[in-house]
Amino acid sequence: MRKDYIEATEPVDHETEFVEKFWTAAWEREGGPQGRADRILRKEEYRAMAPYIAKLPKGARMLDGGCGLGDWTLCFARQGFSVAGMDLSRQTVAQLRARFPEVEFVAGDIRNTTFPDACFDAYFSWGVFEHFASGFQECIREAFRIVKPGGWLFITVPLDNLRHAVLAGLAAHSAPDGALRFYQWRLTRAELARELAIGGFEVLETRPMHKRQGVLRSLHHEFGLPYEWMLTKGLSVALAPFIPGPLIAHMVFAAARKPSDQ
Ligand SMILES: C[S@@+](CC[C@H](N)C(=O)[O-])C[C@H]1O[C@@H](n2cnc3c(N)ncnc32)[C@H](O)[C@@H]1O
Repeated sequence: MRKDYIEATEPVDHETEFVEKFWTAAWEREGGPQGRADRILRKEEYRAMAPYIAKLPKGARMLDGGCGLGDWTLCFARQGFSVAGMDLSRQTVAQLRARFPEVEFVAGDIRNTTFPDACFDAYFSWGVFEHFASGFQECIREAFRIVKPGGWLFITVPLDNLRHAVLAGLAAHSAPDGALRFYQWRLTRAELARELAIGGFEVLETRPMHKRQGVLRSLHHEFGLPYEWMLTKGLSVALAPFIPGPLIAHMVFAAARKPSDQ
């Protein structure tokens, strides 16, 4: 497991406060919730979880842990699932509740929710479990508590791909400039599987995801190409299919199951 750092631009002592401020500002820059649920059907995560979800009855209970702008929650609500979206950003959740009062959005921390034991058939969470320096087990322990026996957990976290391993080896010889603070964990597939197994889940599959995003980052950081250039975007689309996932993929997906007898 490898730690990523970010520049500490302003002093925020408490880690949870930092994460909430960081994401509230990010969602404000995106213009707040727009209800773009239609784009979800094209996402890699959606295609990966779809075969599992297809087995659930209409009205099955789902949790979108760290729902951000709420598009995933809206997508599943419109498919007839009883889905709750939870996020640490109180401002974003207030905006979601005002704009979509028919959908369940809750402000809260996925490490410590008020949901009853064993109430969710499926729990999904994209790019959330990695944000706390203490590691993954607080998120996984709470997920295990609220998922029904035989229920599913689907998560993505940043992949510690080969590119990162090489860059980390090179950076080990140079001291970072300025004040930095912990931003997120980065894991290999085996490390993610091990974290889930420690938490009591049976791991069904892991797979690298978002190769194009990984290529884009490499073109920017190693070759100095600005993200917004058409050339950078075009190259990332053209190159991604030819580069192995373990070398370049940005995220890793896992599907896991709570054993039926727990
Ligand atoms: C990478 S974004 C993902 C947003 C959304 N799931 C998506 O895929 O578009 C991470 C989100 O998780 C939220 N978050 C981070 N830690 C959290 C926690 N402990 N409890 C609830 N939400 C959290 C952040 O506020 C942010 O909205």
